[in-house]
Amino acid sequence: MYGVDMAQIRQALAFAYGLYRFRAEIAFQGYARRDPMALLQLRPGRDNPYAIYDRLRKVGPLSPTRLGNWATTSHRVCNQVLRDRRFAVRPNDGPMADPATDPLDLSFLTRNPPDHTRLRRLAQPAFSPRQMAGYRPRIEAAVSSLLDRAEAAKSFDLVPALALPLPIAVITDLLGIPDANADRFARYGTVIGGALDGIRSLSHASQLQAARDELTALFEDLFALRRRDPADDIVSQIVAAEGDQVRPAEMLPICLLLLIAGFETTVNLIGNAVNALLDHPEQWKALCADPERLAGKAIEETLRYDPPVQRTMRIALEPGELEGKPVRKDQFVAVLIGAANRDPEAYPDPDRFDIEREPTAEHLAFSSGIHYCLGQPLAQLEATIALRQLAERMPGLHRAGTVRRRNSNTIRGPIHLPVRVGLDRSSTGPAPGGDG
Ligand code: HEM
Repeated sequence: MYGVDMAQIRQALAFAYGLYRFRAEIAFQGYARRDPMALLQLRPGRDNPYAIYDRLRKVGPLSPTRLGNWATTSHRVCNQVLRDRRFAVRPNDGPMADPATDPLDLSFLTRNPPDHTRLRRLAQPAFSPRQMAGYRPRIEAAVSSLLDRAEAAKSFDLVPALALPLPIAVITDLLGIPDANADRFARYGTVIGGALDGIRSLSHASQLQAARDELTALFEDLFALRRRDPADDIVSQIVAAEGDQVRPAEMLPICLLLLIAGFETTVNLIGNAVNALLDHPEQWKALCADPERLAGKAIEETLRYDPPVQRTMRIALEPGELEGKPVRKDQFVAVLIGAANRDPEAYPDPDRFDIEREPTAEHLAFSSGIHYCLGQPLAQLEATIALRQLAERMPGLHRAGTVRRRNSNTIRGPIHLPVRVGLDRSSTGPAPGGDG
């Protein structure tokens, strides 16, 4: 027993030391050497990644990174890499994650074909246009009741009042999770979503394991229930496919992916949209004058201008060339979505937020190629309904405090966005700072 504890302590110390060195190295490269890729992982990258993307853009469409990989800020090259079958989300010959134990296994998001194709096909029917039409009245009712409560309070924080509980209610409803507690799910999202930036500390690692354990227990109970008593929800569809189409150990990661992707991103889309609109009062006014026509356009422009997922990564499956540069097998390409969406070659005046913008290129906020976001129609539906009702019911909405950004660099959005209902337009103004 004593021996096991000592081994665990040694392992934990080695892990903590490795993390400390890794973080110290990033801080040194970023603050001392002004390395843009390191800065993107630090506070300046959280406050204003767009200024750093501009610096990188000057190097060219494809820049080498200090770790011997590549990064691209170009819309054209990002799109090409995301669609090119020579690049994938993991090496084909590397070790496979064990879905039973990997706390970060996000199913087909982290799989190459053929597993990707097989598992994605299983989840796809839940996001068909027919299903979307069915979800609409439920989303409208959910937004309406959240706004009733917010309106009564007059001053409220938009994130916990609307942006967060809405997608949690929608995705837990679609999965068929009974009596989902929004605070509990928000915590799972923060812990698991935060791990996309890497594990920050020993405490983060243990929170991740605890969240994974709690969600495992929740979904195992739900799988048992839906095997006995199927309902009209995604978990019942997954359980019905158990066997040839999906192995038992693959069921939990699919549910985790749908759950976390289902709200960790949409919350930031709603937050980023309201934040950008309150930064541009003339556009908020225009939206309030015609919410039916402009809510969808405002969401589309937010996805371009300030996307919730700022970057993704691809790995070269074979040696080749990209933009005339040699790419070795297993080299990474950082696909900087937030930069691609402000590429002046794709968008005129790219730093201008303009809800009337006519699209000149499809933004990459939902990625591209085979991993194109499965939940895109749902995210857009939720955010558009939320914004439309907000503009219809609260045209005098204005800031009532400082915006705080979430402590994450891959996922971008406010964690606090205090607002007030009424005609007072004196603004406290946006604060670029993060929360820690
Ligand atoms: C504004 C909201 C959202 C944004 C910005 C977003 C963004 C993304 C991005 C960028 C990817 C691909 C990452 C890559 O290529 O490496 C992705 C994949 C995915 N998203 Fe979303 N997402 C959003 C909402 C949702 C929602 C609401 C759901 C589900 C309910 C969802 C489910 C998924 C799934 C399942 C994948 C994996 C697709 C695959 O690998 O084939 N997303 N999302």
